[in-house]
Amino acid sequence: MTKCYPTVSEEYQKAIEKAKRKLRGLIAEKNCAPIMLRLAWHSAGTFDVKTRTGGPFGTMKQPAELAHAANNGLDIAVRLIEPIKEQFPILSYADFYQLAGVVAVEVTGGPEIPFHPGRKDKPNPPPEGRLPDATKGADHLRQVFGHQMGLSDQDIVALSGGHTLGRCHKERSGFEGPWTTNPLIFDNSYFTELLSGEKEGLLQLPSDKVLLSDPVFRPLVDKYAADEDAFFADYTEAHLKLSELGFAEA
Ligand code: HEM
Repeated sequence: MTKCYPTVSEEYQKAIEKAKRKLRGLIAEKNCAPIMLRLAWHSAGTFDVKTRTGGPFGTMKQPAELAHAANNGLDIAVRLIEPIKEQFPILSYADFYQLAGVVAVEVTGGPEIPFHPGRKDKPNPPPEGRLPDATKGADHLRQVFGHQMGLSDQDIVALSGGHTLGRCHKERSGFEGPWTTNPLIFDNSYFTELLSGEKEGLLQLPSDKVLLSDPVFRPLVDKYAADEDAFFADYTEAHLKLSELGFAEA
């Protein structure tokens, strides 16, 4: 889709740059890149292309959205970055949460994802139930990412590589453990681990394993495991799209 980005003031652009530096510092200090990426993704991933509701518009700070089962634990992320947000009242939460996602990928060694400011905060959180269910299969992923969000099969596989960061927490999702042996580094090890089979201490969700069995997803897993540059290129494109769902549409 062609994008038509709004122009922001010089003051706003400066606040973005400063907030970015503060986020880099906080994320490095607290080792909280994984939950920041999850915050940005869960904020954006509720977009519904048909009704043009949900999406990356700052509603995650509201107790109603934080109370959705899929968002268990994200109150921690919201709380951690609020002191930085307070220093930049000019910024929208919508931009700020997406900026945190971009910084999380960058400071852990991942690609630099372009960031376009100017999202406006929306008042209404999305209904519960739009984020993917980790126990379901390929049809479900295509329903959520494809039909609901308007993303492609390639985006599904590339974005699943976000699980190169972080871990599951029993008390948040019911699952436990990291996907890789280096969960604070953004690299292609999610794909190499996926291909090398289940291992003691590492986790593969049912929704990760379907990437191996689906005939369209599997060649992309093979490609990203063999070629980190290809993963970074496709991840950048997919993350950018995700972070701009419903924003700057021409
Ligand atoms: C494909 C569908 C997906 C499913 C079913 C899924 C499911 C999950 C689950 C169950 C957790 C564990 C939460 C916890 O217990 O703390 C998790 C964590 C995480 N997810 Fe996903 N996810 C999906 C896609 C994505 C995408 C697209 C991204 C980002 C691009 C992402 C990034 C993360 C990160 C970084 C964590 C770790 C959070 C932490 O360590 O605190 N996930 N995901």
